[in-house]
Amino acid sequence: SAYSRITGTGSHLPPRRLTNDDMVAMLAPKGIETSDQWIIERTGIRARHFADDGVFASDMGADAARAALDAAGLTAKDIDLIIVATSTPDMVFPSTAAIIQHKLGVAGCPAFDVQAVCSGFVYAITVADAMIRSGTARKALVIGTEIFSRLLDFNDRTTCVLFGDGAGAVVMEASDTPGLLASDLHADGKHVGILCVPGHVSGGQASGQPLLKMDGQAVFRLAVTVLDRAARNVLHKAGRADTDIDWLIPHQANIRIMQGAAKKLHLPLEKLIVTVDEHGNTSAASIPLALDHAVRSGRVQRGDTLMLEGVGGGFTWGAVLLDY
Ligand code: ACO
Repeated sequence: SAYSRITGTGSHLPPRRLTNDDMVAMLAPKGIETSDQWIIERTGIRARHFADDGVFASDMGADAARAALDAAGLTAKDIDLIIVATSTPDMVFPSTAAIIQHKLGVAGCPAFDVQAVCSGFVYAITVADAMIRSGTARKALVIGTEIFSRLLDFNDRTTCVLFGDGAGAVVMEASDTPGLLASDLHADGKHVGILCVPGHVSGGQASGQPLLKMDGQAVFRLAVTVLDRAARNVLHKAGRADTDIDWLIPHQANIRIMQGAAKKLHLPLEKLIVTVDEHGNTSAASIPLALDHAVRSGRVQRGDTLMLEGVGGGFTWGAVLLDY
């Protein structure tokens, strides 16, 4: 087929919701001060969801996948490719994709993870699109699932208030009518240090410091520039203009970065899909979570043109333009 197209979306949020005031109460006994006002003004975040102990990225991802399959009118048996974007896998190996495949009660189709931190979902749908257009797959599940609460340093107020847990999924199918129109992906490893979890497993122990570290201002400065360049590139590749965009669905990290991206594309803020207020930053899950919420609330309609933009650790970034 000439194209791949999204035929269903789904998502999962763990039930435990923490408001900013809940975070204030959690951090106060450690002598760490924060406030609802600081968090809202700097980030736009009002609440996030944290998974309970014993819940893994695969559980949330499988749940989101089931919802996406339902929406597409398919069952897991119809799927011939599973790609999972995550930086918080259940295990060092095997992949979370293999674990999700088993939780969906199927076997046989290829399943693998893509690791590009918060850009993971735009990377993963680009890979799925390429495999569908080459004829390697016809019906793919692409899932972003993250459990960043396990990586947070609750002694660092500059990062621990920013992230949340959740999952989103899409079904992508071979199609003769346009779906994914263009993609533009990048990485620059010289920026590893500005956003990382500097640890690994060695001799049965965690070694290094496997907790999230971020230079927020460096990330902020880089994010706004690279996102706009990627968005311009996909518009150019697709032969479209910024006025053709019906909805901008950026990675949900910070409302100010997102509004900056909309402004650079000359889009009114009504065209910006925002879930960071209720979800926090869910890394590779944030774009499919936001997409699913926008579809289910009736804002994103069949035929709309969507600009997806991801940016995150690596440094990685990219954009995808698609007709929904
Ligand atoms: N509560 C209260 N005060 C705080 C908190 C907090 N949670 N965190 C920091 N502060 C204080 C700082 O200590 C500092 O105090 P000081 O002036 O007395 O030194 C003050 O607030 C300002 O700190 P800055 O770091 O300058 O705040 P800034 O306006 O840069 O906002 C933020 C910080 C929100 C992290 C911002 O830099 C940002 O959004 N960066 C981008 C981060 C991002 O989007 N990352 C994710 C993208 S990639 C991915 O998703 C993995």
